[in-house]
Amino acid sequence: MLKIGNIQMDTPVILAPMAGVWNSAFRLTVKEFDAGLVCAEMVSDKGIVRQNEKTMNMLHINEREYPMSLQIFGGEKETLVEAAQFVDKNSNADIIDSNMGCPVPKITKCDAGAKWLLDPNKIHEMVSAVVDTVDKLVTVKMRVGWDEDHIFAIENARAIETAGAQAVFLHGRTRVQVYKGTANWDIIRDVKQAVNILVIDNGDVKTPQDAKRMLKETGVDGVMIGRAALGNPWMIYRTVQYLETGKLIDEPSVREKMDVCKLHLDRLISIKNENIAVREMRKHAAWYLKGVRGNAKFRNQINQCDTRQELVSVLEQLAEEIEAKASRVSAG
Ligand SMILES: Cc1cc2nc3c(=O)[nH]c(=O)nc-3n(C[C@H](O)[C@H](O)[C@H](O)COP(=O)(O)O)c2cc1C
Repeated sequence: MLKIGNIQMDTPVILAPMAGVWNSAFRLTVKEFDAGLVCAEMVSDKGIVRQNEKTMNMLHINEREYPMSLQIFGGEKETLVEAAQFVDKNSNADIIDSNMGCPVPKITKCDAGAKWLLDPNKIHEMVSAVVDTVDKLVTVKMRVGWDEDHIFAIENARAIETAGAQAVFLHGRTRVQVYKGTANWDIIRDVKQAVNILVIDNGDVKTPQDAKRMLKETGVDGVMIGRAALGNPWMIYRTVQYLETGKLIDEPSVREKMDVCKLHLDRLISIKNENIAVREMRKHAAWYLKGVRGNAKFRNQINQCDTRQELVSVLEQLAEEIEAKASRVSAG
């Protein structure tokens, strides 16, 4: 059992934040697939301070997601602290996370996201200011460095620890790598050895076996999974099972995939209007279909759907067609 401060996580497998990709509809599903913690996408500190409507909607949490973490990004102490205070008082999140990894120029130009990685003193100052002002637990998600010549992972992790944060989520790529190349697990191991707070690894965990190997090689406390969970909450469940029992459970059937896809759709509809939810669900449906044979024809149909009824009917048709094909094959 893993604990961040007084927050207990039933498993060491954590859902990574992914901006514009998942929200409480999917996070809740992943929680039901045994994630120890789910992390919400980054939210702008200035958006919170200005009470921007879109930003406020991003703070939506389903109470069954707990434990969960809300992430803020910002480049200036004043607004970061003000936003953290707002989240502290007005949200039921258990953890306030600070984004120190976003590589997007629009963000780094404002001294936010990965830009912090170049300055351990700034990290200390900003994280201390947040820790001192809130009651909730504070964590940081960062990358190993800015580029190959500026890797201050150990200094940065120590700054985070002395500032009073409880854990660091460490993506093993530099800012310059964005999401390409390989994550550097050696640096992650070195950081784990250098600090006493929890270190959670992130990056290049595509299978349950990767998770086990990574935990063994780096000695970190837990694993955070991002892209491998797209349309695939089973990645979380299968990883938990594999770590606990050493047994790899089967991939889900098409019927199971389509059922969870429908559940995801209904949860989206409950927090957005139907048309917006269905449009947003199109890309998720394509992820659920990944690896399903003969999915191309259905992908095109999904991209035409505007209502729940249309989308559910395509998903049903797909499951029936694949099941019929499978039973013809097994009959002979
Ligand atoms: C589309 C997309 C959106 C992301 N949004 C966030 C975010 O809001 N906050 C954050 O800290 N990381 C964000 N990340 C980074 C992921 O959380 C994670 O660190 C990265 O994808 C590496 O993990 P993976 O290899 O398991 O996907 C995002 C990544 C992608 C691809």
